[in-house]
Amino acid sequence: MRQPLVAGNWKMNGSRDSVKALLDGLKAGISTVTTAEVAVCCPHAYLADVQASLSGSAIAWGGQDVSIHDSGAYTGETAGSMLTDFGAKFVIIGHSERRQYHGETDQQVAEKFSAARKNGLIPLFCIGETLEEREGGVMEQVIARQVDAVIEHCGIAMLGEGVIAYEPVWAIGTGVTASPEQAQEVHAFIRARIAEKDATVAEKIQILYGGSMNPANAAELMAQMDIDGGLIGGASLKPDDFLAVCTAANR
Ligand code: PGA
Repeated sequence: MRQPLVAGNWKMNGSRDSVKALLDGLKAGISTVTTAEVAVCCPHAYLADVQASLSGSAIAWGGQDVSIHDSGAYTGETAGSMLTDFGAKFVIIGHSERRQYHGETDQQVAEKFSAARKNGLIPLFCIGETLEEREGGVMEQVIARQVDAVIEHCGIAMLGEGVIAYEPVWAIGTGVTASPEQAQEVHAFIRARIAEKDATVAEKIQILYGGSMNPANAAELMAQMDIDGGLIGGASLKPDDFLAVCTAANR
């Protein structure tokens, strides 16, 4: 059985004070609420604060993006080795906001996946269709293309060392969640696509749902057979909401 994973994606939010308050709230509540693995992906500027606060706790942490390069003249980027230097376990890659606002391509996302693995980080590999793609009937093609890019570049075994986050773009930050049936349908499609290459990897890989997941809808979503947890944006910024989502992930 796959262990559920609930990961917070703080995006570009917070201050040193608010990060401290959020982490204190999470640490105070976490031990009793869930059997799921729990992680937070913070802005890189706060990695040292997050590491200092969460070391020795039940909560893991990660970054929100990683460079394909090891080091050098790449202004503004973060190397995988820098994330691990601060104890990061995870890194989000291919988030739709990176694809949309920074023009990240499937190929670059695949290269980031391997850069993460090279540094021992677990990629939280985001995929998902836009509303136009869904309504235009090409949703499955888009999802397959995104997954296949990583399989082609990294190999199926390496894909299996990561976590997939299905995040329909139309559900991110909009308050519109995919219904449990809609989400389950895509999760099953993703697993089947992977199974064409390797049934063991398909059975083992965690596939999270992301997109307006909150305490009110989390339990129903995570009760679906192929939904193994969540990547949580807005609701991860409030300790009570995030802890409630973690509780909903109990199996
Ligand atoms: P949301 O964001 O929960 O605020 O919709 C999820 C994400 O973008 O990872």
